[in-house]
Amino acid sequence: MSTEKKNGKICVIHGPNLNMLGHRDKAQYGSLTLDKLNKMIRQKAEELGLDVSIYQFNSEEKIIKMLHRQRKISEGIIINPAAFTHYSYAIRDAIELLAIPVVEVHLSNIYEREEFRSISVTKDVCIKQFYGKKEESYFEALQFLHENLKKS
Ligand code: DQA
Repeated sequence: MSTEKKNGKICVIHGPNLNMLGHRDKAQYGSLTLDKLNKMIRQKAEELGLDVSIYQFNSEEKIIKMLHRQRKISEGIIINPAAFTHYSYAIRDAIELLAIPVVEVHLSNIYEREEFRSISVTKDVCIKQFYGKKEESYFEALQFLHENLKKS
């Protein structure tokens, strides 16, 4: 298996409970299922010439292992750490050790909800954060990486 980094290779990681999109609060998260969201992410990535791989995990350990793995595979990562955003120092540390840009995304506006959601322990180790625009937050993240990878 080759571990060579590919041009424009991006990894999208969805955190816990995002496999339940479509059944969650539609006012916050929209009505798309994860399958539909992933289809749209793939379409947008293709338009931008990015090679995207997408994962969803409900456990912290699996997210951390995937971040470690992507260190040698991808050129950039888009992560929605979901509830882990607000308290996982372990995911924060895993992001921090990567030498590739990591973009944090949220479907909802975490700054205009319950107080605990307005704290992101991961945002400071990410290059950028997009939130509050439902699926559009992911597209903005793809666009951002597209523009930034072009420069490097
Ligand atoms: C979320 C916001 C988090 O607070 C929440 O726990 C999620 C999804 C979002 O995409 O808006 O599961 O990350």
